[in-house]
Amino acid sequence: MEKGVTNLSRFLLEEQRKHPEATGEFTILLEQIAFAAKIISSEVNKAGLVNILGKNESTNVHGEEQQKLDVYANRKMIEALDHTGKVCAMASEEEEDIIEIPDKYPKGKYVIVFDPLDGSSNIDVNISIGTIFGIYKRISEGFNGCREDFLQEGNKLVASGYVVYGSSTMFVYTTGVGVNGFTLDPSIGEFLLSHENIRIPEHGKILSINEANYHRWTPEIRDFVEYIKNIKERKYTSRYIGSLVADFHRNLLKGGIFLYPGDKSNPEGKLRLLYEANPMAHIIEQAGGMATDGHKNILDIKPEKLHQKTPLIIGSRFEVETYLKYMKKS
Ligand code: AHG
Ligand code: MN
Ligand code: MN
Ligand code: MN
Repeated sequence: MEKGVTNLSRFLLEEQRKHPEATGEFTILLEQIAFAAKIISSEVNKAGLVNILGKNESTNVHGEEQQKLDVYANRKMIEALDHTGKVCAMASEEEEDIIEIPDKYPKGKYVIVFDPLDGSSNIDVNISIGTIFGIYKRISEGFNGCREDFLQEGNKLVASGYVVYGSSTMFVYTTGVGVNGFTLDPSIGEFLLSHENIRIPEHGKILSINEANYHRWTPEIRDFVEYIKNIKERKYTSRYIGSLVADFHRNLLKGGIFLYPGDKSNPEGKLRLLYEANPMAHIIEQAGGMATDGHKNILDIKPEKLHQKTPLIIGSRFEVETYLKYMKKS
């Protein structure tokens, strides 16, 4: 008999059965993140109609003017997770310090990092935005989680994922055994398996970099971009949305490379290691791609600060390996 549609809950249960030691705590966390995603998606889809657009008259630790949807999404992620008893602390782009779990709730053995709303500059102009998350097992002892739980290398992540609020809303995640994508059917409020075992093509056809920064690029970056643009046997196209999640998701499916390198004025680039680069690097490796800061694997970087930035070059193996060759010449 034909297997019916697989919703996220069924898929998580089937995955859980493959791991005899699994306790089901993971499943609860991922389902709660998916729940928050549905709520955020609903707001995003009517953003023009309710008072959710525009600035929140506040700034975050990066000095970025917070959008109302940044703050809203941040709140929904916290509310979906803080009571589960599976988490002992959280960290968010929108919160300067770690988010403690209220005393009234039990604590669990996981910590979660997230970028609640990625691509904020695109909210008011109706371009795809997203949510990014990563889950670690705590390493600290004691009742509450603490900062050291968050300063683990990305290679210690036990799960990573993102939601892209685009022409449809998709939930894409890995628990270290491949990457799977689910599309929200808003008529039934369920994420349905639509992209099983996603693999990024060995080489791409998409070059994704903000060319407005050209004058700040190092010679190696300029040479690499020129090389890619002149590959005879393959014509690349340039695509840059300005939402990491959307640029990443397109390249994951079609192949290519996304670069937000460091430059003369921002040697560490713009993207944050904990809740942007690491979860995406975890996903891309699970899908057969690569992620580097230009010298080392993103997942091997030992974080020193919650909000530290890193150059991020991520995508198909051929293009990222080629980039590394250019960087070695420097
Ligand atoms: P966020 O909205 O969470 O602060 O992230 C924005 C990031 C990322 O989504 C995107 O790739 C990058 O900013 C775009 O930066 P530029 O506008 O400088 O190209
Ligand atoms: Mn931001
Ligand atoms: Mn972001
Ligand atoms: Mn953000």
